[in-house]
Amino acid sequence: MTDITSIGVIGGGVMGSGIAQALAVGGCSVTVRDLNDDLIAKSRHTIVDGRYGLNRGAERGKTTREDADAALAGLSWTTDLKDLANVDMVIEAVPEDLELKKKVFAELDGIVGAQAIFASNTSGLAISDLNKAVSEGRRPRFIGMHWFSPAPVMKLVELVHAPETAEETVQALESLCQRSGKVSIRVKDAPGRYGFVANRIYFAAVREAQKVLEDGIASVEDINKAMVYGFNWPVGPLAMIEGATKGWQ
Ligand SMILES: NC(=O)c1ccc[n+]([C@@H]2O[C@H](COP(=O)([O-])OP(=O)(O)OC[C@H]3O[C@@H](n4cnc5c(N)ncnc54)[C@H](O)[C@@H]3O)[C@@H](O)[C@H]2O)c1
Repeated sequence: MTDITSIGVIGGGVMGSGIAQALAVGGCSVTVRDLNDDLIAKSRHTIVDGRYGLNRGAERGKTTREDADAALAGLSWTTDLKDLANVDMVIEAVPEDLELKKKVFAELDGIVGAQAIFASNTSGLAISDLNKAVSEGRRPRFIGMHWFSPAPVMKLVELVHAPETAEETVQALESLCQRSGKVSIRVKDAPGRYGFVANRIYFAAVREAQKVLEDGIASVEDINKAMVYGFNWPVGPLAMIEGATKGWQ
């Protein structure tokens, strides 16, 4: 099994930019593809000057200036999918829409080398639905790679394997995660059930928190305090969603 060293990230939004940064810090060369120059400028800004970006990371001692500069030197941006023809792996991070993701994978299948791994950062779509978009020969190298936001900071990556996913593909991504300072877990694809492991358990807690609120048992502020001070959660169950969806400024 050869190490994955060159990666294409499809979609430079909240997740794609964070994933690209984390993998560049891990030593990979990463090309981010988005649809136009404005979106590319936004992605670049997030990675260089965003709240969890390279410059603030260096200022706050999370990385050295040299490592931040090396990561930036390993990053590039493009609007042209053909620039990803020779990467070892692509990670798709376009909006959570099955048909859009399938269209993107089908397009990539015709452009990216046959040996490359295809991964989706979907939050919960079935990998065995998404992999139908690529040729049968690619399916052993098709996998879910679900990151957490903000990706440069959060350590967990869920590796979601469909029945067609080869063991070597899982192992190649486990090695990539380890080299990038991430902790991976293996998750069996579960078609018909949205969400993998961490979000399913987390949203069960959020649903219960909402019920506590609806029943008039405690205020939003006190529900959040309960979990922060009672269980050392970094933020309360009713406070986490905003940063994850709007991005971390
Ligand atoms: N936000 C989170 O906390 C989070 C966490 C884990 C996983 N996810 C998943 O990650 C994926 C992306 O989510 P996000 O929050 O980063 O979305 P986002 O809207 O911030 O970013 C999506 C990006 O994809 C781009 N895009 C759309 N079509 C494209 C195409 N054909 N080629 C290249 N780029 C294209 C958009 O222009 C945009 O920049 C979704 O599947 C989501 O469920 C999100």
